[in-house]
Amino acid sequence: MKKTLKDINVENKKILVRVDFNVPLDINLKITSDKRIVETLPTIEYLLKNDAAIILMSHLGRPNGKVVKRMSLEPVSKRLSELLNMSVKFIRSDCIGFESKKIAVNLKPGEIFLLENLRFHPGEEGKGVSGEKDIVTDIFSRQLASMGDIFVQDAFGTLHRSHASTTGIVKYVHDAAMGFLVEKELNFFYRVFKNLPSPIVAVLGGSKISDKMDIIENLLNKVDFVIIGGAMAYTFLKSQGISIGTSFVEDDKLDLALELIKKAKERKVDLLFPIDHIVTNKIDFMNKCVVRFKSDIKTTVDEAIPEEFMGVDIGPRTIEKFSEVIKSAKAIIWNGALGIFEISEFSKGTFEIAEFIAEATDNGSISVVGGGDSISSVKKAGVDKKISYISTGGGAFLEFLKGKELPGIAALPDLN
Ligand code: ADP
Ligand code: 3PG
Ligand code: MG
Repeated sequence: MKKTLKDINVENKKILVRVDFNVPLDINLKITSDKRIVETLPTIEYLLKNDAAIILMSHLGRPNGKVVKRMSLEPVSKRLSELLNMSVKFIRSDCIGFESKKIAVNLKPGEIFLLENLRFHPGEEGKGVSGEKDIVTDIFSRQLASMGDIFVQDAFGTLHRSHASTTGIVKYVHDAAMGFLVEKELNFFYRVFKNLPSPIVAVLGGSKISDKMDIIENLLNKVDFVIIGGAMAYTFLKSQGISIGTSFVEDDKLDLALELIKKAKERKVDLLFPIDHIVTNKIDFMNKCVVRFKSDIKTTVDEAIPEEFMGVDIGPRTIEKFSEVIKSAKAIIWNGALGIFEISEFSKGTFEIAEFIAEATDNGSISVVGGGDSISSVKKAGVDKKISYISTGGGAFLEFLKGKELPGIAALPDLN
């Protein structure tokens, strides 16, 4: 058993807490779902009550070791300050630079300091570092550790990543434990997730194609149906020789897609793909936000997408096909929007599927939805209160299904 927050003495100590504040932001940098912040409040409030000084550490987006202004954690510091009704120290400066260290050194019990996005630094993931990746991440882990005494792991959504702030840091602090959010989510997944009633349907979408394709093979051992929508669908369609226009695709995953289709057949799991799409001829992306799109929007007659067009949502026939499967399910696991739901014209597929999942839950099925953007989509669809369980983890909860201990937990010390 791993140590939890209540197993350690935090009084008058500086606690480095890894949180997952990778929240969805709109084009105006407004947070569209603060659930990932709200869910860490029990840990933060406990530490405040027990006279600890708190240094919060998180990533936001994928800046790949460089400073990307739009991915600053500043909006998060403001929201956290509102939620706690107290000041939260934050500077838009290198998280292990002199200014940050000065604040950390002077931090008093009962005070909170949120470090700037860890992934602005190449040492967090080793991204953009040639050759000496391990040394760079190790130095970064030591630098982070030197700012506090004890490490608390409360980033459930990032437990599947082995980065400086999730695993590397542990060996350089005096003690470490999991926080209340990680404890709560793990309890749910061990208790309920492992014993879901059949038929089980997994609904997968979103934009992190390779990450999620890698876990499908494992899903095939646990579920009866896998519904594929979102950006991932086009890699599967292309692998079968279907034209996908300019849709998102990962060409190095085409063989894997074919292999997964074959394995699903062998294991008698139904793998369902879109049979029609909403497509548009141009979208400009800025980070996670879509800036603009040309007004040429069409619904395709079948799964083929015309040249110069990209798939941005599932079409009406697909919605119907997917909804039939969802209605028949006793358990539904969902991660990843089925289209670019942030734009109203491309949100119908995601919102309607959200409603079908809510309806199935009303009729007695268990529904589990997870992922930063997925949480935001069920909230936007107005059905978040109807879902049986909403997890702060997306990739992390899917990885959990593999049954192996996630790196962010494995690195923590055992309770003696
Ligand atoms: P989560 O945060 O729930 O784990 P992801 O981060 O993997 O999910 O993906 C969410 C994003 O996927 C959304 O912002 C959505 O706009 C995007 N997305 C969904 N469908 C498509 C598509 N067809 N093309 C491009 N992006 C898509
Ligand atoms: C997530 O949103 O799934 C987590 O914050 C992890 O983000 P990552 O996939 O960029 O590591
Ligand atoms: Mg996301």
